[in-house]
Amino acid sequence: MLSDAQLRAQLPHTLRQLDLPALGSLYRGKVRDNYSRGDQIVMVTSDRISAFDHVLGTIPFKGEVLSRLTTFWFDKVKDLAPTHLVSVPDPSVMVVKRATPLPVEIVIRGYITGSLWRDYLAGKAGAYGIDWPLGLKKDQKLDRPVITPSTKAAYGKHDEPISEAELLRQGLASPETWKEACALAQRLFARGQEWASSRGLILVDTKYEMGIADGKLVVIDEIHTPDSSRYWMAKAYVQRFMAGQDQQMLDKENIRQWLIKEHGFSGHGTPPALTDDVRVMLAHKYIEVFEQLTGEVFQSAGGDVQARIEQNLRKAGLLK
Ligand SMILES: Nc1ncnc2c1ncn2[C@@H]1O[C@H](COP(=O)(O)OP(=O)(O)OP(=O)(O)O)[C@@H](O)[C@H]1O
Ligand SMILES: [Mg+2]
Repeated sequence: MLSDAQLRAQLPHTLRQLDLPALGSLYRGKVRDNYSRGDQIVMVTSDRISAFDHVLGTIPFKGEVLSRLTTFWFDKVKDLAPTHLVSVPDPSVMVVKRATPLPVEIVIRGYITGSLWRDYLAGKAGAYGIDWPLGLKKDQKLDRPVITPSTKAAYGKHDEPISEAELLRQGLASPETWKEACALAQRLFARGQEWASSRGLILVDTKYEMGIADGKLVVIDEIHTPDSSRYWMAKAYVQRFMAGQDQQMLDKENIRQWLIKEHGFSGHGTPPALTDDVRVMLAHKYIEVFEQLTGEVFQSAGGDVQARIEQNLRKAGLLK
């Protein structure tokens, strides 16, 4: 684990954005800067952090942690499905094959928590077209993992729950593709839960994006990262669940809680500025989940991330 001092020293060097028009045409998402040319995308994971669909600032080493975790996981699931990964020229960069993304996010949950729990309490969880059992408790394990799809909203809009029947009616995916995507999500999630469990963690829920490339379904975007997933500490789960306490979270829920509890911010208005202390605290969390999942000690040279990326892209022949 990098020391507090090392994380602090990285604060002024975090990667906010990468402006390299020579790489192709830019699509800047909330977290990634995506440069496409032909059927290839150079996906640069910046250090930006977003919550409630707002970009809040940057976290030391976050881009590297997320990108390395995604390639780690792609390797763990490579026998289950093709992924978009082509090469990894830099720890924060993936070269991927462009796919036509399905316009739905495939969210899969092993436990009832977060927005699903809030919807369940408010009697709105039926929006997913699922008959939820009565009497579930917060953070309870579901009998089997359940897919709760959501629409992929345009920039600045929030994703919305959608039922399978509705997404098929709207033609967001063909019935065959949707069936295949759900079966694949179940296999990926089972593999993820199994690995996480062997590392003392619970993979609570996650979100997959899939697309079609060369007529085939492929896994795109990131997988099983703390931005796209919830992780809880396994050891504490039962006792905390029985006591009605919050779980020990190793994921983006930490920032959501900070925003809600300290600043009453849950997506409306202007988000509060992140203090350096919070940025360092969050860096610790991201690195902790990396180390716990991979069993490796996170090491990084630190310093100017942009300069390192440019150098590595040049070495890989992606930049002149
Ligand atoms: N292989 C791929 N082909 C095409 N698009 C992809 C591929 N992999 C990921 N994407 C898209 O690239 C973008 C990645 O950037 P990022 O994750 O920062 O965006 P986001 O903020 O999550 O999403 P958005 O801003 O589009 O709502 C996402 O829109 C994702 O759907
Ligand atoms: Mg994304």
